[in-house]
Amino acid sequence: MTTENSCTHVAIIMDGNGRWARKRGMPRTYGHRKGAENVVKITRSMKESGIRYLTLYAFSTENWQRSKDEVDALMQLLNEYLDKELKEIMDNNVRILFIGERNMLSPGIREKMAFLERESAQNTELTLCIALSYGSRQEIVAAVKRIAKKVADGELEISQITTDTVSDALYTKDIPDPDILIRTSGEKRISNYLLWQAAYTEFFFTDTLWPDFSKEELCEIIQAFKNRERRYGKN
Ligand code: FPP
Repeated sequence: MTTENSCTHVAIIMDGNGRWARKRGMPRTYGHRKGAENVVKITRSMKESGIRYLTLYAFSTENWQRSKDEVDALMQLLNEYLDKELKEIMDNNVRILFIGERNMLSPGIREKMAFLERESAQNTELTLCIALSYGSRQEIVAAVKRIAKKVADGELEISQITTDTVSDALYTKDIPDPDILIRTSGEKRISNYLLWQAAYTEFFFTDTLWPDFSKEELCEIIQAFKNRERRYGKN
């Protein structure tokens, strides 16, 4: 007898905002704005689908290399989003977490992030984890340094280091590994996202551009996931 997989955690690489805008003869930043609107809709759909954790790749460490205009526009959008949308999401029993290198972000944005995390800490329905200024290799390097320091300080023996030691030193220490990773826009890459955490994650790639990604498509993916065979290396 086969049993259906249950899905606790969905991670998404929200790609294709720029192409979505270009197809409409609009600037890239218009695509990001539509992408941010879709974040709100999809977060609601996740709650309705009973998903407990949603991790969104909003801004990668590599995204700092985009043009100053685009980075400024994304930061401006993020600022608005932290003020309005996330506040509303939080008021709907959603816990908000951020992962990434915070010291790259402005003090104003960091303060708002800390406020949302603090105020939503007791919310229970869904955890929305936003990857901001996030890079998985950088996260792993930071974890290695943390572990090395413990060894140097005599708090940990090298022989005591396990996969749990590494998991517990990552930004994601409080959340389970993703069951599903979705990348929109037709690209089939992981792009420095959750490299350690996605060891046994099921991948789904769709040609849909992020602003068009819908609840219906999400439900189809979750259904397809339920029927996939997950063996975790066993036979
Ligand atoms: C990829 O599209 C998307 C991003 C780099 C940013 C994702 C941001 C959002 C969805 C909006 C902001 C989110 C929050 C939480 C406020 P792209 O620009 O790489 O598109 P392209 O590949 O078509 O050029």
